[in-house]
Order: sequence, then structure tokens, then C-alpha cells
Amino acid sequence: MPAGYGRYVTIELRPLTGADAEAHCAGEDELTVRWLTGGYGDVDGTIGYFELLAGNADRGVGKRGFGIWKSGRLAGYIDYTPDLDDGLEPDDVALAYAVHPWARGQGVAVEALGLLCDILRTDNIGTRAAIRVEPDNVASVRVAQKAGFRYVRDFPSNRDTQPDGTPTTFSLYLLDL
Ligand SMILES: CC(C)(COP(=O)(O)OP(=O)(O)OC[C@H]1O[C@@H](n2cnc3c(N)ncnc32)[C@H](O)[C@@H]1OP(=O)(O)O)[C@@H](O)C(=O)NCCC(=O)NCCS
Repeated sequence: MPAGYGRYVTIELRPLTGADAEAHCAGEDELTVRWLTGGYGDVDGTIGYFELLAGNADRGVGKRGFGIWKSGRLAGYIDYTPDLDDGLEPDDVALAYAVHPWARGQGVAVEALGLLCDILRTDNIGTRAAIRVEPDNVASVRVAQKAGFRYVRDFPSNRDTQPDGTPTTFSLYLLDL
């Protein structure tokens, strides 16, 4: 079995490499685009993005991203950002995630959040994990609740906007690490 951050039998988090780019792109759908990425990725751009994540990991700064593997198949993506100031306190660590359509509805995101919070505790990163979710994203609100995060407040984003130019409203959910 490949080395990785695994506590559960079937779910593993591992760093992503260029070899994963095609499967990563194939796992995007309109919900991924609407709620997370804002647009479909292509393989070349994704390889570059994974290289950026690997560079961040080497230097120990900025956003850190992982693939979510379920039973050996790439099933999603999850990352953490220790220095995001949009609606967060300095010690809050922002988490973001997407699960490939075929793997949804099986609790994959909740398990991946548990594994990522284990990494944050082990590596002493931040004091609170934060999920910023649009209130209409019912599936992700459920994920935050099931993962034990508590609702804190709604706030207007200082960087994300709706198509009409108004600030995106996010609900903030926090979990003490
Ligand atoms: C949000 C998301 C990550 C949830 O991942 P998941 O592993 O399917 O999560 P769960 O299995 O815990 O299901 C969460 C909720 O999704 C909904 N759901 C259930 N089965 C589903 C399916 N087959 N397809 C889509 N949604 C489903 C349910 O509302 C479920 O809540 P419930 O357990 O109370 O019934 C996934 O829907 C996704 O990738 N969405 C697009 C990207 C996104 O929204 N990212 C989060 C940005 S804040």
C-alpha cells in the first residue's frame, strides 16, 4: 500500500502529482465549478497547479492540497490554507474540498475532513479549522455539520463575488483543533 495519511480503511489523503491530473479533471462537474472552482480545469493547468502545491509543501507555506483516494481510486480533492483572511481570524485554517460525482453520498468528504484535521493537529497548524460555505450549498453545509463543525455567522466575502458583482455570502463553520 502506498504511504499516505490513512486512518480509515478505504479513505486516504496523499499529495497529488502530474500523473493524477487527468483523473482530477475528469472528476469535476457543474457542482464543483459552481461551488468551488468557478471553472473547469484542463490537464496542463492542473499539472502546473499540483506543482505549485508541491512547492508550497516543500517550503511549508501557503495552500496545501491532497488527493482523496477511496479504495485506491482518486475520489476527490481537499486543501487547507493557513493564511486566508477572508472572514477568518489569523489562527483559523481554511479548508476546501470536492468529491468526484461517482463517490458522493458515501461520507467521503466527512472522512477526508477528519484526516485533514489530524494532519493539522500533528503538524501544529492553526487552532481552528474553518469551512466557508455558501448557505445554498446544502450538501456542503451537511458535511460541515456531520464533521462536527459549529455554525458561527454569515459574512460577505471580501474577495468572492456573484455574477452581478455583489459580494458572495459565506456561512462560517469552525472546529477547534
Ligand atoms: C459537498 C460535497 C463535497 C459532499 O461530499 P460527499 O462525500 O458526497 O458528502 P456526504 O456523503 O457526507 O453527503 C453530504 C450531503 O450530500 C447530499 N448527497 C447525498 N447523496 C448524494 C449524491 N449521490 N450526490 C450528491 N449529493 C448527495 C446529501 O444532502 C448529503 O447529506 P446527508 O448525509 O444529510 O443526506 C460534494 O457534494 C461536492 O463535491 N460538491 C461540489 C463541490 C463543493 O460544493 N465543495 C464544497 C465547497 S464549500
